Amino acid sequence: MHITIDGLAKEGDGVGRCPDGRAIFVRGALLGEKVEVVMTEERTKFLRGNTVSVLEPNNHRIKPFCSHIQDGCGGCNLQHADGELQKQIKLRITQEAFERIGKFGAVPIKYGGCIESVGYRTTVRCSVHDGKAGMRGFRSHDHIPLSSCGIAHERVEEIMIKSYFGDIEEVVIRTSILTGKSLVIVSSSDKAIETLKDVQVISFDQLRKGESANIVEQVCGKEWRVSAGSFFQASPQGSELLVRTVNEIIQKNVTASASMIDLYSGVGIFAGTIGSGHQVTAIEQNISAMRDSIHNLGNAVNHVCSRVEQWEIMPHDFVIANPSRSGMSKKVPNIIEQTGAAFVVLISCDAAAAARDARRMVDRGFQLGEIVVLDLFPQTSHVEVVSTFVR
Ligand SMILES: C[S@@+](CC[C@H](N)C(=O)[O-])C[C@H]1O[C@@H](n2cnc3c(N)ncnc32)[C@H](O)[C@@H]1O
Repeated sequence: MHITIDGLAKEGDGVGRCPDGRAIFVRGALLGEKVEVVMTEERTKFLRGNTVSVLEPNNHRIKPFCSHIQDGCGGCNLQHADGELQKQIKLRITQEAFERIGKFGAVPIKYGGCIESVGYRTTVRCSVHDGKAGMRGFRSHDHIPLSSCGIAHERVEEIMIKSYFGDIEEVVIRTSILTGKSLVIVSSSDKAIETLKDVQVISFDQLRKGESANIVEQVCGKEWRVSAGSFFQASPQGSELLVRTVNEIIQKNVTASASMIDLYSGVGIFAGTIGSGHQVTAIEQNISAMRDSIHNLGNAVNHVCSRVEQWEIMPHDFVIANPSRSGMSKKVPNIIEQTGAAFVVLISCDAAAAARDARRMVDRGFQLGEIVVLDLFPQTSHVEVVSTFVR
């Protein structure tokens, strides 16, 4: 079937129309292209398919750097687009989410920059089959064995490829660029696991029993302890670009004496950088991350280990909120409103969640301000959206 692509899905697929009028989501197709498609799924209202050949290419199409894309790897779904087109795609995904999900009409969205486009991931979650690490397939739980991974940091890639992971089903590999130390975090212990010298293997069972493992990483010139059970951005460069972007916004909008809430604070990156000089309360539910934050920042910050939803609300002047991919739960905009904060920065790693949460903030009386899209995940359709709100 030949399809002309005139739309873009949020996962980066091209969208066209079948002869019967149904929409078709085409993996590997770019805007403006005419492609030959093989159908992979048929539903009443839409279809899905894969590009088998490109009849009329977009000028920004390039040769994918990784052969595993042909094997169905779900990792880097935009590597056939050059950097400029990836930027345009991410802006458009965000714009469409704010229009369709947030119901905002056309809002101005800026592009705030990109990190190194290969070898950047210092944390990677892999599937395991027959002891070997790989990636899940696109929209499937299939295991795609890997002989290389272009977006993984070289040390992570080496561990991924050269290790034998026994009977486990999933592994998280994390390395520190600062110290070179690496962790392999597995769901359960397996004596058969063989990995590189100097790599520490730890299971979630061991973590639950009180054992610990951590790396120390550098972001914005400071060292941060990050334990095996704590969240950390996919790369320290990503974390740094995010801090720089949010800090520029804060400098323009907030006075030096203003008090700050770091909501969903993780190991304390925002509290310990942007919060410096401000009175700060950091709220985080994960005990491992909270312990790291206390280790990293000590008494300089008021640490509260709680779900944001259960926090005993205290007045503050501004909020930085950086929830997980699913975004803030329904109650949270109301909680933010009750803090009395006059300025809020929301950082979302999913455009749909960003748009939905922005709408809820506006419904609580905030006005939507600047929106900045960052590319912390080059070669993929993931976006990082920084939105601001004033009362
Ligand atoms: C995307 S991470 C951001 C961490 C930190 N801001 C950073 O940049 O490293 C989200 C954090 O929110 C925490 N979290 C998720 N849901 C939460 C909730 N309902 N209440 C408090 N913390 C939550 C997670 O444990 C995680 O550490």
